[in-house]
Parts: sequence; structure tokens; C-alpha cells
Amino acid sequence: MLMPKPVLISGVQPTGRLHVGNYLGALKNFVELQNSGKYSCYFFIADLHSLTEDFDPKEKPEQTLNLLADFLAAGLDPKKSVLFLQSRIPAHSELAWILNTITPIGELRRMTQYKEKLLARVPAIVEKGILQDGVDMREFENAGLFDYPVLMAADILLYDAKFVPVGEDQLQHLELTRTLARKFNAKFGKTFVEPQPLLTKTPRVMSLSNPEKKMSKSEPTGCLFIDEEDAEFQPKIMSAVTDSGSDVKYDPDKKPGVSNLLTIYAALKDIDIPEVEGRFKGKSYVEFKSDVCQAIHNEFVGIRMKKKELVSKREFLRQVLLEGSKKAAEIANKKIEEVKKRLGLTA
Ligand code: AMP
Ligand code: TRP
Repeated sequence: MLMPKPVLISGVQPTGRLHVGNYLGALKNFVELQNSGKYSCYFFIADLHSLTEDFDPKEKPEQTLNLLADFLAAGLDPKKSVLFLQSRIPAHSELAWILNTITPIGELRRMTQYKEKLLARVPAIVEKGILQDGVDMREFENAGLFDYPVLMAADILLYDAKFVPVGEDQLQHLELTRTLARKFNAKFGKTFVEPQPLLTKTPRVMSLSNPEKKMSKSEPTGCLFIDEEDAEFQPKIMSAVTDSGSDVKYDPDKKPGVSNLLTIYAALKDIDIPEVEGRFKGKSYVEFKSDVCQAIHNEFVGIRMKKKELVSKREFLRQVLLEGSKKAAEIANKKIEEVKKRLGLTA
């Protein structure tokens, strides 16, 4: 008898353009894992998660379809993977609520991403003048931001996923998912699979302008977007922060900027760092950066063109999500029924 393939799942929020960090930490790997044929793959657009950030409802449909266009342009294929929209499947929210009831608040408070997002947003709250002197500003933040990792756990556990390809910033959330799976299983009987993360060789791509911080769209000068024209991204690479030396050598402590570019280059060319160092021995930073520009161009020029073609086919994109969501819902609905039985929600 044929063994069923292990399930693999990952989600991305529709919050704007994808950058090279998202691509090298996640999307490129999604495509390779899909094409390996070893997994039963689910990739989804985490639109419920994206509600925890400021947004304009008028822009949400476009952000969602744009992200699907990125997925398809990069090589995800609805014939090989289930591509779906989180908000189309109520079981995600239902299971999140149920998991909330076994999640210690203390675990959520420890989450680094929550703390970082809070820090980044609190000044904005202060500017809006919502706060009075002496009040703890965090108390005004939405509870969804705090609860975000529980919804993420639900996304994963609903599908019995064994593997979750993500960037390094999501590891803590995955650890919580494992904890909640174990806790639920111990309390109510074996129901969930404990998932494992799958990292790429570049799980944390750093900002070009501030290589001590991870690349993120909140800092556009240090961020390379995958659909950027050459004229937009080239100046960012050529002016990327480096050190005052001249050796193209990997040394994240002393040469974080050059090391980040080396990592990006090696990942794009699919070669090891020492090989890149060898290639640029005796060459200047300018020569090295020009080759990084070329590597970025080569990787993304095709994806950019495909994306342009796809974004105009809105009905096709909607249809892909609709069909994928139907398939995902079948699995998710079965699981949520099993969960409800375990909890005695059956009267
Ligand atoms: P998000 O845009 O936050 O939904 O992230 C989508 C995926 O990209 C997640 O798997 C993240 O872990 C990954 N990711 C985000 N930023 C980076 C980065 N700078 N380096 C590597 N992976 C990243
Ligand atoms: N939290 C992830 C991020 O910010 C997105 C996400 C939501 C996700 N649900 C998930 C990733 C489930 C993997 C599995 O990037």
C-alpha cells in the first residue's frame, strides 16, 4: 500500500510586497518543497492574521490577489499544492478559540514578535494622542496581536502538518504550536500532530541599510522587493552598508553588511559561501555589489514578468483561491469535528 505523504503547510500575510527575506526564507523553499513531490503541500494567505495590523478594507482584496500572483509567479502550482485563503475556512477561527482556552497568557507574553511589533507601534499610538500620562500604552493594543500565535497554531494543527517551512522569526511560534498540541493531546486524547519547522540556509536575511536588523518592509531603503524594477533595486544594493575594509569575506560580527550580501548571493546562485569568497578574492566591493545586482536581476526578472501578467487575471486568481479553499475546508472541517467530539461539544 502507498504510504500517504507527510503534510506540509505554511502561510504568508497579505500586508504588502514580498521582499528578498520572504523569498529566501520562505517562498523559494515552498516551491522547491512542492516540486520535490515528497509532501502533501498546503500554502495559504493568512488574511485573518493581517487584520492585526493597520489596514484599509478597500485594499485587502488587491493585497490578497497580489500575494497569490507572487505565489504563482514564483512557481507554486495549484495542480501540485492546495493554495487557499484562511478567512474562507471558519475552522481556523474556531480552533483558535478552542486553543485559547489551553494557552497560558504568560506564554504569549514571552513571544518576541509580539514584543517587537508592540514596540514598533506604541510610538504611533502616542502620536495619535490616545494616551494619557502615566498609562501603560500596551494596554491599548489589540488583543489579536497578542493572540496571533494561537491562530497560527490552529492553522497548522487543523491539517495534521508534520512540516512547516518558515523564516527564523517564526520558530518561537512553532514551539508554542508544539506545546499546545502536546497539551491538548495529553488532556483530551491524541488529536494533533506535533509539527517541525523547516528552515532554509538563509532563515534571516538582514536589512541592506542596517545589517544588524532583519530585512523588513517597514524599512524600505534596506529592503529589496521581489517585483522591483532594476532601476529601483540597484541603487539600494550599490549603497548597501558595508565596512571600511575591502575583502569580500564572511564574518557576521565584524562585517555584517558584506556577510549579508554574501549570504544572499550564495542563496540565489545555490552555491556555498566559501565558493563565493573565492570568486571575489581580490575584487572590490563595487565589483561584488554589481554581481549581486546581476544575480537579483536574473532571479526575479522572470517572476516579475509572470506576476505582471497574472495580476490582471483577477477572476482566474479568485477561482484558484476558491477551489483551493474548498479542498482545504474538507480537511479542516473533519478535524474540527474530531476536536469538538474530544471536548464533548456534541449534545
Ligand atoms: P510575513 O510577511 O511576516 O507573513 O512572512 C512570510 C515568511 O517570510 C515567514 O515564513 C517569515 O518567517 C519569512 N521572513 C520574513 N522576513 C524574513 C527575513 N528577513 N529573512 C528570512 N525570512 C523572513
Ligand atoms: N505568522 C506567519 C508570519 O508572520 C504567517 C503564518 C500564519 C504562518 N499562519 C501560519 C506561517 C501557519 C506558517 C504556518 O510570517
